[in-house]
Amino acid sequence: MKILDGNKTVTLDYEQLGNLPVVSEQGEKNVLNLLRNGEISTSSSVQKFERRFADYVGSKYALTYCNGTSALEAAVFACNAGPGTEVIVPSFTFLSTVMVVLANQATPVFADIDPDTWALSAETIAPHITEKTKAIIVVHVWGTPCDMDPIMELARKHNIKVIEDASHAHGARYKGKSVGSIGDIGCFSFQGSKLVPGGEAGILVSDDLMLYSRAAAAGHYERLAPLGPDNPYSRYSQTGLGHKFRANPLAIALADAAMDTLDARNEIRDRQARVLEAGIADLDFLIPQAIPADSRRVYAYHYMLYDPAKFGGVNPSTLMLALAEEGVICGACGYGRLHQAPAILEGGGFGNVNPHDTPVSLPVSEDMGRRQIMVALRFEQECPELIDQYIAAYHKVAANMEKLQAYERENGIRSFDLSGRSISIISADN
Ligand SMILES: Cc1ncc(COP(=O)(O)O)c(C=O)c1O
Repeated sequence: MKILDGNKTVTLDYEQLGNLPVVSEQGEKNVLNLLRNGEISTSSSVQKFERRFADYVGSKYALTYCNGTSALEAAVFACNAGPGTEVIVPSFTFLSTVMVVLANQATPVFADIDPDTWALSAETIAPHITEKTKAIIVVHVWGTPCDMDPIMELARKHNIKVIEDASHAHGARYKGKSVGSIGDIGCFSFQGSKLVPGGEAGILVSDDLMLYSRAAAAGHYERLAPLGPDNPYSRYSQTGLGHKFRANPLAIALADAAMDTLDARNEIRDRQARVLEAGIADLDFLIPQAIPADSRRVYAYHYMLYDPAKFGGVNPSTLMLALAEEGVICGACGYGRLHQAPAILEGGGFGNVNPHDTPVSLPVSEDMGRRQIMVALRFEQECPELIDQYIAAYHKVAANMEKLQAYERENGIRSFDLSGRSISIISADN
């Protein structure tokens, strides 16, 4: 039995009207070319792509990795964050942002997020700075830039490095600069669901030759000799300093094709998201993410904050279930719980890290995790009719608050399994 009477409101097909294939024709061509040349492990096309990406974000150096996680792990290593040191991180993020700190045997120190931007801010970071702090990892969550100027000012004052996790934010800008190029190091994921999908791959960018060199030593032994005999890391060219994190050229070839259309596709995605947001702006129980002044967000993920106090106390899961039954593809967010995860409390898998004996309390992160709703998957094409149907579905649900309350009274509150992923789609059938 549906919560609301009548037929499903969204009848048009997202896959057909709103989505596009992950791999473009150009991507297929790029990959085929490499396959035919046998360039499946090393290829000069990878260095060409690194130059292209560095130029795109406006950084001096770029180095690809086998995924965004390994790029972040190398970034933490590059900042000299190892045993006995601390790295300030959000909990409202994907697991990699935090687990790479443990992988370096440094201690992740959790800071809460700002309730409007949903990201770390100078105010939330400041109380956690100690003599042991080596770095801060900020996340441009969902594609919205963090307010970087105050964060950089704070970090400079304390001589702490800033790593930007820009895995959601390819093409986003803050005060005239690309995200990723503002901190000391920027990391991007090219995982298959990202705005630049490559499969499994990632990239690190920096303006600082020493950070770049140390990051290269963390995963790219073959990139060390070319740094030249005066570079302190070239002496490790036989072995590197620990890992082999080379990217697969086939994945980079896909990312390269995605870069051809990134700006144009961001325009389309952003336009569609703004139409949806304008169409439901009258629903005061859904609050958009705040964007810092003079910034451009991208819509990798379209989350909004749900305020049950403005909707008769209806639980977020009941709201999502009703929307899903109306045909809206919506989802819950599993973020904001990393500080309570067993691996964190036990100090990670690689030892030598001070465990946190009790979970820290991060009231804003925990609350945001429970109340954020992905209002739609990103729209990759102009699809006004489909978006109209979404807007109608939101209004139908909004007009029937009592039915949702009655459903809750009779059936209780449905709990959905949240994974560590950035989206857990809510299905009307589960
Ligand atoms: C915020 C964030 N950081 C890091 C990563 C890690 O990237 P990857 O999956 O390429 O390892 C992801 C995505 O997967 C992410 O969403």
